[in-house]
Amino acid sequence: MPVTTEVPSLEQLHALSPLQQPTYTDESGLAEVIRKLRKLPPLVFAGECDELRTKMASVASGEAFLLQGGDCAETFDGVTAANISGKLRTLLSMAVVLTYAAQVPIVKVGRMAGQYAKPRSSDSETRGGITLPAYRGDAVNGFAFTPESREPDPGRLLGVYNASAATMNLSRAFLTGGFAHLRSVHNWNADFVKNSAAGVQYQNLANEIDRALAFMVACGIDERVFATVDFYSSHEALLMEYEHAMTRIDSRTQLPYGTSGHFLWIGERTRQLDGAHVELLRHVRNPLGVKLGPTTTADTALELADRLDPEHEPGRITFITRMGAGKIRDVLPDVVSKVTASGRQVAWVCDPMHGNTFEAANGYKTRAFADVMSELNGFFDVHEELGTWPGGVHVELTGDDVTECVGGSDDLVEADLVNRYETLCDPRLNRNQSLELAFLVAERLTDGRIRRANPVQAYQPVNL
Ligand code: PEP
Ligand code: CO
Repeated sequence: MPVTTEVPSLEQLHALSPLQQPTYTDESGLAEVIRKLRKLPPLVFAGECDELRTKMASVASGEAFLLQGGDCAETFDGVTAANISGKLRTLLSMAVVLTYAAQVPIVKVGRMAGQYAKPRSSDSETRGGITLPAYRGDAVNGFAFTPESREPDPGRLLGVYNASAATMNLSRAFLTGGFAHLRSVHNWNADFVKNSAAGVQYQNLANEIDRALAFMVACGIDERVFATVDFYSSHEALLMEYEHAMTRIDSRTQLPYGTSGHFLWIGERTRQLDGAHVELLRHVRNPLGVKLGPTTTADTALELADRLDPEHEPGRITFITRMGAGKIRDVLPDVVSKVTASGRQVAWVCDPMHGNTFEAANGYKTRAFADVMSELNGFFDVHEELGTWPGGVHVELTGDDVTECVGGSDDLVEADLVNRYETLCDPRLNRNQSLELAFLVAERLTDGRIRRANPVQAYQPVNL
């Protein structure tokens, strides 16, 4: 439990000079938006956040694995049934692979229903001699390169609420309404099986699962247990006005929760120990993620853990490491071993995306599938050597056949990037690359070298 349950005021947070915030000129408009947001119902419920914290405690103790994924930046235009269901199906297919191929319970969390604000390396962008504010995500301004579009508009914060509510609503309906039934997931993959290596591998697994399902149904197990999944939302808690307005006191416990999403994380650029983001999030009861980049020291990680989780609460802290394929083997061991030696049990999750971005010769920002896998392999190797549990993956993906990351079994090359490059921010794995990654991760989890702390779990029936 936090030392104090008194949430700092927005003024107190601003006094800490929060980084990566938009500069709003329309102050009265902003005040009106904040007033409206404070009255709107929570997007998630405190009890669900507690439930996820308990699941994250299983991840930290080596009894479950986290699959967290979705767009780098969600967009308002992307709030369509096709787009949302494509991402959910991709995540579910990956979860099927990990659950059945790796025999480990999977905690499923979308980078969805709230991921609308982006930190940027520069406040401005210059094109053809014209300099305008950088695009900071649909939560802040428009992507179009015009002065009007790039002006931060506080009204967009209400757009974030609405887009998150619509996404959450559809996800909840889909995932409890039969869409998540194993057979539906298999059917969705059926067409794409024919022309992809990961697809064929998926079909073999699906056939095995279908036989097992038929057997269980014949034994009298109600098929409906295979039809619903637990799914949670997550995003980077970046914008002070929005996150503060969505922080609410839970009527059951009188404790504060961030109700903009179940799992909130603090980004690599805003995790200063005395900064506003740490100050706000240390007061809410949600499970929290903290990104750790290649310059992270063990002391920094420990100080962050002490500040955000003084009581060593199970499931409270997830360290999402994103060090880059070339650095992870050098930087991660010291951080993990010292945090572990301190007696803390945190969840360790690998984000193999953000340390591996580069600009292709044709100007596209991309990532190589081989680098993504190399960082993941480094992550598994380090944890294997230290005897700690590699608790999960955090990836940027979409359900569409985009061409944003190079490599993978389809062997996308830089010249392919032009075909379907749709992200407004970082390059995402497409559906095929996502499934391929799931198989490779499953292999690492089952090659006999990585062992769960509690293998008994593997033999309990798993409700997808
Ligand atoms: C992100 O997750 O989109 C992101 C910006 O990550 P990081 O804070 O690790 O750079
Ligand atoms: Co990103």
